[in-house]
Amino acid sequence: MELRRVHPDSAVTTTADAAAALRHDAEPPADRPYTVLNFASTADGRITIGGRSGPIGNEADRELFHELRGQVDAVMAGAGTVGTERYGRLVRDEDRRERRRAAGLEPDPLAVVVSARLSLESDLPLLQDPDSRVVIVTESELELEGVRARVEYLRPGDAPAAAGELRDRAAMLALAPMMRLLRERHGVATVLCEGGSVLAGALLREHLVDELFLSLAPKLAAGTGPTIVGGPPLDPPAEMELLTAHEAGGHLFLRYRLQR
Ligand SMILES: NC(=O)c1ccc[n+]([C@@H]2O[C@H](COP(=O)([O-])OP(=O)(O)OC[C@H]3O[C@@H](n4cnc5c(N)ncnc54)[C@H](OP(=O)(O)O)[C@@H]3O)[C@@H](O)[C@H]2O)c1
Repeated sequence: MELRRVHPDSAVTTTADAAAALRHDAEPPADRPYTVLNFASTADGRITIGGRSGPIGNEADRELFHELRGQVDAVMAGAGTVGTERYGRLVRDEDRRERRRAAGLEPDPLAVVVSARLSLESDLPLLQDPDSRVVIVTESELELEGVRARVEYLRPGDAPAAAGELRDRAAMLALAPMMRLLRERHGVATVLCEGGSVLAGALLREHLVDELFLSLAPKLAAGTGPTIVGGPPLDPPAEMELLTAHEAGGHLFLRYRLQR
């Protein structure tokens, strides 16, 4: 689908090309996957309308969302997001799976779900899909019953914290050791994190994010829903560099690199 690039230069391009830049540019650090956040927001910063993200984006946003999934080894999300958005198989389009194969990737990305309490419903379409591989990052010693996907569990006990890594953050699970295990044990070099705000905040506080893809919709929603980054203030705020900006139908597609 066509996009107009407006930064750093002007050009007509496509959602596929804009997404492909992610895999092209990714430089995974030695101890974790290259990690990219992807969010859609209204102009006043809301990431939900009526509790869901669907009404925010336009067709180009949806296309870019799926193209980005096509570029990475794993797609990660928090329990709140996979439950509310009723996650199913991550790449449903056979053409896209074929393009992944041709690029040397697994046809389906690994799904990584973070749920400290294992608060997931077994009837979630993702967990009922026999073709999906799912890693659940949890503190619970229990396992979900009645799932048909290939599910594995990553627990804090599997990953002794390395020097300088957080062990615990109140009720939050420390993610750095988990990200390291995703790299070492599952060979994940690139992760697309689709939110929500709790998970994004946790990743940012542990300095585990390399890029942000932000679709900005020309809409105002008001209300009190979540914004892209939840939790306590980031102190100091995370500085970002704008890499590219695209436009389609008045929606802006902004790609930022987090500065170290
Ligand atoms: N517009 C968009 O782009 C966009 C993107 C994503 C989500 N959303 C919307 O945002 C809402 C969900 O956001 P959310 O912030 O509530 O959900 P979330 O971040 O997806 O999920 C929160 C849950 O994830 C688990 N979790 C996340 N980080 C953790 C950590 N470091 N340690 C342990 N557990 C962790 C916990 O699960 P347990 O409680 O099971 O322990 C926590 O309760 C939905 O309405 C969704 O539609 C919008």
